[in-house]
Amino acid sequence: MSGMQGGETAQKPLAKAKPMGPIPPGYGAVDGVLAVDGVPVTRLVEEAGQNGRGTPLFVYSAALLRARVAQLRAALPESVAIHYAMKANPFAPLLALMGTLVDGLDIASGGELAMARAAGVAAARISFAGPGKRDAELEAAIAEGVTLNLESEAEAHRALAIADRLGVVPRLAIRVNPEFDLKGSGMKMGGGAKQFGLDEARVPALAREIVASGAEWRGFHIYAGSQALDAEAIIDTQAQTLALAARLAREAGVGVPHLNLGGGFGIPYFGGDVALDVGRIGQALGERLAQLPDELKDTQFCVELGRWLVGEAGVYLTRIVERKESHGEVFLITDGGLHHQLAASGQFGTVVRRNYPVAIASRFAPVDAAEMEVASVVGCLCTPLDRLAEKAEFLIAKVGDLVAVFCAGAYGASASPAAFLGQGPAVEILV
Ligand SMILES: Cc1ncc(COP(=O)(O)O)c(C=O)c1O
Repeated sequence: MSGMQGGETAQKPLAKAKPMGPIPPGYGAVDGVLAVDGVPVTRLVEEAGQNGRGTPLFVYSAALLRARVAQLRAALPESVAIHYAMKANPFAPLLALMGTLVDGLDIASGGELAMARAAGVAAARISFAGPGKRDAELEAAIAEGVTLNLESEAEAHRALAIADRLGVVPRLAIRVNPEFDLKGSGMKMGGGAKQFGLDEARVPALAREIVASGAEWRGFHIYAGSQALDAEAIIDTQAQTLALAARLAREAGVGVPHLNLGGGFGIPYFGGDVALDVGRIGQALGERLAQLPDELKDTQFCVELGRWLVGEAGVYLTRIVERKESHGEVFLITDGGLHHQLAASGQFGTVVRRNYPVAIASRFAPVDAAEMEVASVVGCLCTPLDRLAEKAEFLIAKVGDLVAVFCAGAYGASASPAAFLGQGPAVEILV
């Protein structure tokens, strides 16, 4: 294998070029073509094309997924379980693999429950968080023995009534809306009025009621935010989470069999972003767990991560259909777009649009500056929002070349409006 490896910086940027995020580690080149697990993407596209369209194509790397989980296991204290939040990527083969690698799955709907079960994950390893759970979803989860992270008193009462009707002992935990949020996170899920979880002050009464009902009391779920790259902020949030769980248990007079510490581990998407130091987080958590308050002495802990586990293991490949110049600017028009990669277009949880790591995949090799240009990679939708990269620096590409959008393993295919303009879904493969 030769050529530019992920994580390497290219040469000095051309004038006017906007920055892009760093190409994740683990990608290489074979004969100048981007390779996933040593296989050139041109071949992957060709193989995908045998069953229909070759592009647009999502490729997920099993080797990178395995490496990621192993990295996290090595970093975290052994007693901390790893849960995968399947909302990040529910592609069936990926889910089945993740089911064998992690300790638990977090689902957010009855649809995800069905997918998780079809992927072979035992219901006892599944927990269900998310507001607005319908009765039918509660019933399916309770009947199967899934842990419900209850988002409100009303949801708790519906769950207890359903369990009573079914004659089943439900597994119930309370999702707490903490007073703190995860500093620097891209999406905050705590700190003030939120549609998630119960406000701290209301938790003790409901915890007592659940225990008194004879349900299996599972403890607390405290999720304060998502997409943070600052290890110190995550360490601080975990410390606050432990303290809060201990205080709520004390006030309620109940134990804490399980404590879901949340997650929030981010990945570098944009220019200037630096990968999270998970070793540092694991070390700090280990120190905390070595001096737990009495209320948490018998507690089992877990973290709940989506994008950190799967985001960098995926790449979105799309083909250049046309090169166009307008007012002196180059547009590389592709057969993909925001209908598969909403997040890369800047429409999914970001305030200011910035460039994901994007490269010409069919010419993925170091070149000299003379072969570079500033161009925008756009999709085939008739909306100006459909930009995969804006005024960034690329090797001069031709019609037929493949473009790779990295960090496409999370919130890509399943979090984008594939039906828009009759385009339809992209092909997905796990290699
Ligand atoms: C409750 C809960 N768990 C897990 C996640 C996954 O977040 P991420 O993919 O950033 O790890 C989210 C994200 O919205 C969430 O709301």
